[in-house]
Amino acid sequence: MLLPSERLAPSTATDFVTDVAEYLQRTPRQLPSRYFYDALGSALFDAICRLPWYRVTRAETALLARHAREIFEPLPRPLNITELGCGNGEKLAVLLENSHERFRRVHLVDISPAALRSARARLAVLPAIPVTTFQGTYEQGLSRLATHRGHGAWLVLFLGSNIGNFDPPAARDLLRQIRASLAKDDALLLGTDLIKSQRALQLAYDDPLQVTAAFNRNLLRRINDELGGTFDLDSFAHRALWNPHESRVEMHLVSTRAQLVRIAAADLEIEFKKDESIWTESSYKYDPEQVLSEGRLAGFSGGEQWIDEDARFALTLFRA
Ligand code: TRP
Repeated sequence: MLLPSERLAPSTATDFVTDVAEYLQRTPRQLPSRYFYDALGSALFDAICRLPWYRVTRAETALLARHAREIFEPLPRPLNITELGCGNGEKLAVLLENSHERFRRVHLVDISPAALRSARARLAVLPAIPVTTFQGTYEQGLSRLATHRGHGAWLVLFLGSNIGNFDPPAARDLLRQIRASLAKDDALLLGTDLIKSQRALQLAYDDPLQVTAAFNRNLLRRINDELGGTFDLDSFAHRALWNPHESRVEMHLVSTRAQLVRIAAADLEIEFKKDESIWTESSYKYDPEQVLSEGRLAGFSGGEQWIDEDARFALTLFRA
């Protein structure tokens, strides 16, 4: 059976209001980072990827272009490819056009309808490859893959250091879930950002043009627009902190004054103290060896690595 084209995960709108209400009332207050990516959030993220201080996307794209042949060499042909969190599809297009592999089909998974539209348009320049899409979370995309895999081997792409946005137990679970949805001869190509200087990390997540600040605060704008929120965007400041003990950059929105915020759709009122923060995202940084051991712990074998030593970014190819 084939994966149907243009599938949608059920009821993302009710998830949004439920998650916002639940996460904002946690201690410390949080918001789930998957809600960054509405149309404006996806556009701001594309801009982040072009910032001189955020090197993840450029480093990874260059590694994919340079090593596409080596990456595909040990994998079966023809090959199916799925990308979890494809974003605008730029990296996938580079990977496909620079390799001489023949692909059976490409399946795109992303939470953002806007990202899926861009990715589909970008891949249309490679007309020989059939493309299907699924709008939903990584987990939903994976369970569809397991039940609708069709013929042939699959390569799962999980790039952009998106694994870094999960805390270590959740990252382990997700790697196990990826492994569990794969069969013999399948593979996983994992992109991970590596530990580097505090200064480089700080600039990557708190850039002088404040695009990252706009991206972070857009989440509050989205809550205002979609859920009847009353966040005063001017009184929440973007903060990015490198936590060396946890090996993560923490992103926060800090209330610069005491204030009351209402969210109509959640029937919720929240009192923020001055300097109280909403923790919106973590970006964990890895050592190359640690990536290998996490992959093996999840039941993968192999683990060939390509590393950009200057930007400190790694691609790792695991075999199921
Ligand atoms: N996966 C990206 C990362 O952790 C997402 C990201 C980049 C991000 N910059 C951000 C998330 C700023 C929140 C805020 O590198």
